Amino acid sequence: MGKVHVFDHPLIQHKLSYIRDQKTGTKEFRELVDEVGMLMAYEVTRDFETKDVEIETPVTKMKAQRLSGKKLALIPILRAGLGMTDGIMKLVPAARVGHVGLYRDPETLEAVEYFVKLPQDIEEREIIVVDPMLATGASAIEAIQSLKNRGANKIRFMGLIAAPEGVKALQEAHEDVDIYIAALDEKLDDHAYITPGLGDAGDRLFGTK
Ligand code: URA
Repeated sequence: MGKVHVFDHPLIQHKLSYIRDQKTGTKEFRELVDEVGMLMAYEVTRDFETKDVEIETPVTKMKAQRLSGKKLALIPILRAGLGMTDGIMKLVPAARVGHVGLYRDPETLEAVEYFVKLPQDIEEREIIVVDPMLATGASAIEAIQSLKNRGANKIRFMGLIAAPEGVKALQEAHEDVDIYIAALDEKLDDHAYITPGLGDAGDRLFGTK
């Protein structure tokens, strides 16, 4: 079963309170989501492996640590996932970025894939699927399945806010995927919005309605 990591760091919680606030406008919302993406990336990558390298400081030789192991791919789920991606890239600038686009069929309510573009060596990469809102879990489940179908095998999910329903569904569908979020909220409402949540993340990021 994938583990759930909820980041209770004061800086993340402080920024999240403004992100949630309906008085926060698009510009500030976008900046805050970017900043929280960066702060979360620091923790999400905590278990990445390092290797010893010999370097020379101006004073002497020493063994230092550099990242080793698999390279990283970020996979934002369009479109709200884009909002957190730049922040992560600030910490891991060498990461490649793939995109997965999904929409919800209004009749079946199921996630339907309309766009997938991934780095070629996806099967060799450590993958972070990014979507600020883990609501029903349908998009994340479908996106991760789509990545697995193309050979991806080391996947984690990163978001801002999750509903318990989405966490459960994702854990059941993909047992190998750990979940990293800044808050686990109360529930979904009748329209599958997270409560208390932050509203529609895509609309708030891009100023649409
Ligand atoms: N997507 C959003 O943007 N917000 C929600 O509350 C649920 C899904």
